[in-house]
Amino acid sequence: MDAIVITGGKRLEGETHASGAKNAALPILASCLLAEGEHTYRNVPDLADVSTMLKVLRTMGCDAEWSAARHEVKIGVPKNVMPEAPYELVKTMRASVLVLGPLAARHGRARVSMPGGCAIGARPIDQHLKGLKSLGAHIELAEGYVEARAERLEGARIGFDLITVTGTENVMMAAVLARGRTLIENAAREPEVEELARVLNKMGARVSGAGTDLITIEGVDTLKSVDHAIIPDRIESGTLLVAAAITGGDILVKEAVPEHLEALIMKLREAGCTVSTERGGLRCKGPERVGSVDIKTLEHPGFPTDMQAQVMALMSVSSGTSVITENIFENRFMHVAELRRMGADITVDGSVAVVRGQPKLSGAPVMATDLRASASLVLAGLKAEGKTTVSRVYHLDRGYERLEQKLEALGADIKRVKG
Ligand code: EPU
Repeated sequence: MDAIVITGGKRLEGETHASGAKNAALPILASCLLAEGEHTYRNVPDLADVSTMLKVLRTMGCDAEWSAARHEVKIGVPKNVMPEAPYELVKTMRASVLVLGPLAARHGRARVSMPGGCAIGARPIDQHLKGLKSLGAHIELAEGYVEARAERLEGARIGFDLITVTGTENVMMAAVLARGRTLIENAAREPEVEELARVLNKMGARVSGAGTDLITIEGVDTLKSVDHAIIPDRIESGTLLVAAAITGGDILVKEAVPEHLEALIMKLREAGCTVSTERGGLRCKGPERVGSVDIKTLEHPGFPTDMQAQVMALMSVSSGTSVITENIFENRFMHVAELRRMGADITVDGSVAVVRGQPKLSGAPVMATDLRASASLVLAGLKAEGKTTVSRVYHLDRGYERLEQKLEALGADIKRVKG
């Protein structure tokens, strides 16, 4: 298994760029199942999760061609697919469940392995299923699989009990081909939901209100294939901005979209960083030592849970005490024990972590437990004195495109060791 070895203490400086957004790419790739023909997706990040989604589509009979170097995916979708996502793939990536909505809508049948819990929480899909049932799908659970059947879905009014990103996306993809109007209330407002709606509309769907908590969909009979370039990754962008903040550096992240990162930008400024919009990107200049800020994770436009671990690494070297509350996932503090091994002073009580900033961290061997936790350990390693070895880097590779190369180009002493 690969590891990343960092010798900390370098100030990061220069220009880098954001890759395409993982969490936009995954639902968009799944949405190809809604229309027969050849689809082209551009600005697709070269990530393990993208590769898994393409495997899922290939097992169904789609013909997916990926030019990772050009960041381009071409998918040929046949008239009939084998509407099944097997356990072997879903267990490696729960976002595979995003094929459920499109399959139920266009193929009238779907058999998708039920995702289990994961490192950060139980993550049930009850709201996805509730939405599909409201649209008239008949849902059964058997042998660890969700089976959905429907003649043609019927538009309905759906109120989610809680805000769910992939749940909103799954139901939106099902409703575009339903007969009549669907209203999704309490919808997720994430930029990735808006982006999926943009793609669906390009395919001929009639979706309005995405980006607000009420999405209206007028069902259509058929959709056509699409050519689309995916938005930049706001979480990767944010992680790179924090790399500037934690090293007292100065980084311009080209392509980063300020409107997608408002909550983070506000917190970085509050901590003493200078953040500006510049030449089609965002620039962050870190102070000698950041001040402390409190964070409460919330659904968009609140502070993203996907940035909580990275900001915790930053707060572990702030000049004060920071209170970080995780409201989205029940077990998303797995990085705490590892950060403590590097000298961070963090105590956790339920969903609240109190981080007392230390003047320095010390390099150590640490282990990544999930994607964003790995990113936080890499950030801590950039700041720490001496050598940090982050193992289990496959977590990082699920969601960051060659992060170590981007950081090295900015002046970090960082390398990947093949294992
Ligand atoms: N939830 C339910 N029932 C459901 C759906 C969700 O109880 O039917 C709960 C979850 O257990 C969680 C909360 O609702 O406590 C929010 O979960 P949500 O469904 O919004 O998360 P998700 O759609 O599974 C996406 C991202 C995550 C990101 C979350 C929150 C994708 C592919 N994944 O997950 O990204 O953390 O939204 O913003 O879009 C990551 O990239 O590292 C990552 C984990």
